[in-house]
Amino acid sequence: MRQGFTKYFLITALFFQYLSASATEGMWLPQLLTQLNEKEMKSMGMKISAADIYNLNKGSLKDAIVSFGGFCTGEIISSQGLLLTNHHCGYESIQKHSSIDHNYLDNGFWARNQQEELPNPGLTATFIVRIEEVTPQVLQGLYSGMSETERQSAVDKNLARIKDGYRKESYQEVLIKPFFEGNRYFLFLTEVYKDVRLVGTPPSSIGKFGSDTDNWMWPRHTGDFSIFRVYAGKDNRPAEYSKDNVPLKPKYFLPISLDGIATNDFTMVFGFPGRTNEYLPSEAIKLTVEKQDPAKVSMRDAALKVIDGFMRKDEQIKIQYAAKYASTANAWKKWIGEMQGIRQTGGIQRKLAYEARFRQLAPAYGGLLDSLNSLYQTQAPYAVSKDYYTELTRNVEMLNFANDLLTMMQDTRLKGEDQFSDLRKKYLDKVAPKYRNYNNDVDRAVAIALLDIYFREVPSRSIGGEAYQVWMESNKDSRTATGKMYELSAMTSFGKLEAFLNRPFKSVEQAIWKDPGLRMMIGLRNGYADFINKPYDSLQPDINRLQRRYMEAQMTVMKDKRFYPDANSTLRITYGKVGGYSPRDAVEYGIATTLEGVMEKYKPGDYEFDVPEKLRTLHANKDYGAYGVNGKMPVCFIASNHTTGGNSGSPALDAYGNLIGLNFDRTWEGTMSDINYDASICRNIMVDIRYVLFIVDKFAGAEHLIRELKLVHPKQAVKPLKKAA
Ligand code: ARG
Ligand code: ASP
Repeated sequence: MRQGFTKYFLITALFFQYLSASATEGMWLPQLLTQLNEKEMKSMGMKISAADIYNLNKGSLKDAIVSFGGFCTGEIISSQGLLLTNHHCGYESIQKHSSIDHNYLDNGFWARNQQEELPNPGLTATFIVRIEEVTPQVLQGLYSGMSETERQSAVDKNLARIKDGYRKESYQEVLIKPFFEGNRYFLFLTEVYKDVRLVGTPPSSIGKFGSDTDNWMWPRHTGDFSIFRVYAGKDNRPAEYSKDNVPLKPKYFLPISLDGIATNDFTMVFGFPGRTNEYLPSEAIKLTVEKQDPAKVSMRDAALKVIDGFMRKDEQIKIQYAAKYASTANAWKKWIGEMQGIRQTGGIQRKLAYEARFRQLAPAYGGLLDSLNSLYQTQAPYAVSKDYYTELTRNVEMLNFANDLLTMMQDTRLKGEDQFSDLRKKYLDKVAPKYRNYNNDVDRAVAIALLDIYFREVPSRSIGGEAYQVWMESNKDSRTATGKMYELSAMTSFGKLEAFLNRPFKSVEQAIWKDPGLRMMIGLRNGYADFINKPYDSLQPDINRLQRRYMEAQMTVMKDKRFYPDANSTLRITYGKVGGYSPRDAVEYGIATTLEGVMEKYKPGDYEFDVPEKLRTLHANKDYGAYGVNGKMPVCFIASNHTTGGNSGSPALDAYGNLIGLNFDRTWEGTMSDINYDASICRNIMVDIRYVLFIVDKFAGAEHLIRELKLVHPKQAVKPLKKAA
């Protein structure tokens, strides 16, 4: 596998030779730390070596880190597969086990023993066994005159060949991903555990304290954690759920430091950041914060206002919509912060200055940058309409169900009518659980609000005949336009939908045109496909090609800059220091919050700021066990680690690699770190691990879990315990 590597290495070594200005920026590949970061990490205070973090010959930190369900991070904290992640990462699982009678969201849940731990079908924990560069093999046979499509299909063939030929155990999986806009490729050998059970969660009044009001904000007081356990087959390998499975014996698990944090302490965050775009040209940033973010925010503003109104009045709706509301609100608020942060730090001017420097260093590439910027300008109107469409069909569930139904019908046409009953069943299985959390009145109210914006903002030529006709016939009034949809459509309930589909394909084909919900969707969908998505997509290959070249050019000419690849849901490490910041003139933020702040925010009975009685009593008695300091209970803290969505649940580690906190958020002004990291205001937010332990031990009384953990005192020990052990 390693032939042809040496020559390649000469080129890539160039890419990485130089240090960047802001030391805390970057999400680094763990297998490249020795080469790129170790020296700097040590100079910032790290006491272990890169080989303690990523090592193929013995258990190392990376063996304790998992991708939790593919959307969050988790870490193993005991020899019996105990897994820690965020409350908001476990939220859907917790919600699925909840009902009005057993409301684990409201009351918390603690398994008293392993028999009581709750299975979660579909939930996975993925370990990374090894990471290898496969760039030369992936780019093999490519030549410069290729069109982007030819290139992609050659790459795809190579990828398939590498995967097929890769030697692995039957229970392992192989994943290859592009880095640096397709300039490099890395292979990940993984083990995906499929039996992950819920062990414990605090009530939402702790795990989600402050809810959407406090989300993305500092100072923060959320105990955002939940605990799971990874189960394996008797051979310790991945296995489907079975009651005979046993707790995983991990290669490594994280010791937990009880010694807390102080300003300037070195910290690192190890996890699976999802998506960043740090190397976009200025026009793309402008498009994001001046057009796309505002469009998406306006749609969600409207949807959230409607749903919130219903949730406040109706307990059942509150449970049904809680998870959906939280996820809609989350990105909405992030986009608002991103717009603000870019404005506040002059993000666009900074990009322009960077581009000016690039042009100076690489005059020959100036044209490339111009073309790239102008492609983004051409794409802008389609990008914005695309966002409106995505938001509409995401937030109006009837349209979402209808869209999936139409896709299923199209599939049947392609694959043959004899596939109909099969495809129909798959479709119904997919939407059935969504209907359990569906309320026709809520959805109609959302549709009224969003269709109004959609028809106003999206050019009428892009709307699609059938939908436009309904709109005109309703005198451009979305209340009228949705009337028939929400009275007569088969999509108004799961029962009606099943009955609607329970007939021969041909007759369903005719019926979809007469169903007002489906008819609306047919129009929107066709308009989108032909007049939004097609022109948008037609520009994409050129954008991809130029982004790739621009990336390569930046890495070649910006010799004082050290480059890290954009996040792509692969394992990364980021490091920084505990530290406050000044979000605006005359305002200084401290590094840590305590339970005192929880009590300051306490609003009896409020759905965001209520505090459970037990916690109030513990506070009144200062009953903090081994976890308090000087009569106070630490809750959250911040540091300059460069994180993004997907890093939730990631361990925050001290200089020795001990667990000190659980990453769960960023500060609002700093969310623009996804497109423009700025060390002055970008901070990640973590729950202090002592708060987690205090809640488990003192609040929940789950001492049996505490006994499973390895607690250490690195700051008190003469030598670090890890080394001494
Ligand atoms: N902002 C955090 C992250 O992006 C936490 C989100 C969960 N909490 C919430 N109130 N929606 O995921
Ligand atoms: N809260 C985010 C997550 O769920 C983390 C972040 O965006 O900072 O991954």
